[in-house]
Amino acid sequence: MEQMSNSSSITQFLLLPFTDTRELQLLHFWLFLGIYLAALLGNGLIITAIAWDHHLHTPMYFFLLNLSVLDLGSISTTLPKAMANSLWNTRAISYSGCAAQVFFVFFLIGAEFSFLTIMAYDRYVAICKPLHYGTLLGSRACVHMAAAAWGGGFLHALLHTASTFSLPLCQGNAVDQFFCEVPQILKLSCSHSYLREAGLLVVSACLASGCFVFIMLSYVQIFRAALRIPSEQGRHKAFSTCLPHLAVVSLFISTGMFAYLKPHSTSSPVLDPVVAVLYSVAPPAVNPLIYSLRNQELKEALKKQIPWVPLQQR
Ligand SMILES: *[C@@H]1O[C@H](CO)[C@@H](O)[C@H](O)[C@H]1NC(C)=O
Repeated sequence: MEQMSNSSSITQFLLLPFTDTRELQLLHFWLFLGIYLAALLGNGLIITAIAWDHHLHTPMYFFLLNLSVLDLGSISTTLPKAMANSLWNTRAISYSGCAAQVFFVFFLIGAEFSFLTIMAYDRYVAICKPLHYGTLLGSRACVHMAAAAWGGGFLHALLHTASTFSLPLCQGNAVDQFFCEVPQILKLSCSHSYLREAGLLVVSACLASGCFVFIMLSYVQIFRAALRIPSEQGRHKAFSTCLPHLAVVSLFISTGMFAYLKPHSTSSPVLDPVVAVLYSVAPPAVNPLIYSLRNQELKEALKKQIPWVPLQQR
């Protein structure tokens, strides 16, 4: 199976087997299931709270809503298949399933990063240019930005998927990752044919770095504004809200860059999956905690709608 000569004869790919031990496979299944359920619950609560509470129909919460929808989508692209394979002790994923994973990972994670950028801009304007908030983030501007994030993510994903899956593959069909990831598929390509897609990845990395610099600059301005807050408590609140955002964004981009830009020769079957978890699984699971559930207004809204949710008051 692994020694097929060209891509036209590949009907399926083989994903990374985490382990051959049945107990460890099941442990791995339960671990992923726990993370998956936590992500479903956290993002589900946020979507419910924002959709149903009219007080929360402002740009900031609409962006959080978009982020939660993207989180649900991106974690559902990778985890369920890995869980099913562990549970049933298989490695196979169909050719079209693999292409779909590549497409949705690029689409949803790309759009997610765009929304993190938009949200940093939103907070920057709200805190540093409050008088211009109405004109800079009116409802039309917000819809345009959201549409650009979704549409841009879609086209970007289409480009990478088409470029990756048109490559001739000569090195078998074993993907060293728990989902179909572009760098792992490039390793299967014949000689130097992967260079075009590698070039596209560098372009994407430059775009992502541009967004990252923009996010950092926005938060630097926010921190400078926060330092001018007279009350100790207010300063503390501003920092304790913004530092976790920066931590998530930095982890997201550094692990993503590492996964997609490192040379083939340095890939390792132990490190690669850990890095993939950090950029594809961790953000959707922790975003609800970092971006939303520390927010008092959102907690109040949740309390009103779902009184049994035990959210502690601060
Ligand atoms: C995304 O954000 C835009 C702009 O605020 C909003 O109009 C739209 O309803 C949101 N969509 C989703 C699915 O959250």
